[in-house]
Amino acid sequence: MRILLDCDTGIDDAFALTYLACLPEAELVGIVSTAGNVIQDQVLRNNLGLATMLGLQMPVARGSDVPLVQELMTAEDTHGPTGLGEVVLPDPDRDPDPRSGAQLWADLARAHPGELTGLLVGPATNLALALEIEPELPHLLSSLHIMGGAVNYRGNTGATSEWNVAVDPEAMARVLCAFADADPLPVLAGLDATEAVRFTQRELDAVAALPPHPVRDVLTRALEFYFAFHESDGFGWSAHVHDPLVAAHAVTGRFLHTQPLPVDVELAGTLTRGQTVADVLGRWDRPATVRSARSADADAFVEHLFTTLRTGLAQLPVSP
Ligand code: BDR
Ligand code: CA
Repeated sequence: MRILLDCDTGIDDAFALTYLACLPEAELVGIVSTAGNVIQDQVLRNNLGLATMLGLQMPVARGSDVPLVQELMTAEDTHGPTGLGEVVLPDPDRDPDPRSGAQLWADLARAHPGELTGLLVGPATNLALALEIEPELPHLLSSLHIMGGAVNYRGNTGATSEWNVAVDPEAMARVLCAFADADPLPVLAGLDATEAVRFTQRELDAVAALPPHPVRDVLTRALEFYFAFHESDGFGWSAHVHDPLVAAHAVTGRFLHTQPLPVDVELAGTLTRGQTVADVLGRWDRPATVRSARSADADAFVEHLFTTLRTGLAQLPVSP
């Protein structure tokens, strides 16, 4: 299975990347860096650094510095000054790919028609830009899996908006519109599903006890920062770890329960801009646009994640 990962790394993004690197059946063919949790320079640095540490060879591309329309907002309070808490990664072993993130989406989809799984766990900026280069993208990908939104559930950024949508609402609206006739429909996993996964001290201990690997130590220290943020935000010494759940669903088809729904992004609301609005009762008289994931088998996923990390980290090469 070939996967393109588009991420704003980010603590839970780093878990998704490491999880994919640990899976023999998943071939990561490209990483697109999207500004979000931290600025583009830092996301790119994190992706290059983690790819180096994990011994991954695929191209890592720089994405847009800013969202399509609004100013960039970042989340150093949540993900730390480096996006990995306070962890500074060693220098990477390579330069970024010379192509833009949008171009990489288009090139890889064209190179592997019908065989590339798109996995978007950050804002949709670069995927939206890629649609301008290759409008056939929805029909070239084998499937698209998105961590984003919240359906009939509170937001984590605005009162009703989720981070990946709130950073670039126009981009996510464009992507959902363009993929509305994709077959299969994209999976849209909102907070209602991903917040079922909550790491506590038990999972923090399990990360620290993974086989010795420099990435294990990065993840442990980053997760401690993530816990401290969640504690300061009223969620206790724990953290919602969204992105690897969606990665695991993309690879295995398990852990998320989906239902076809028409979903659109509110772009004009004075209180609700960036909200994903789902027409559960069919009032719009429009066909479904996504497979909306609104619940998850959290325990089974966590077990799968740690089994994969334990096996994979024991086998991965150890570079600096
Ligand atoms: C999403 O926002 C980011 O902070 C996380 O990495 C995740 O992709 C959750 O709302
Ligand atoms: Ca993310």
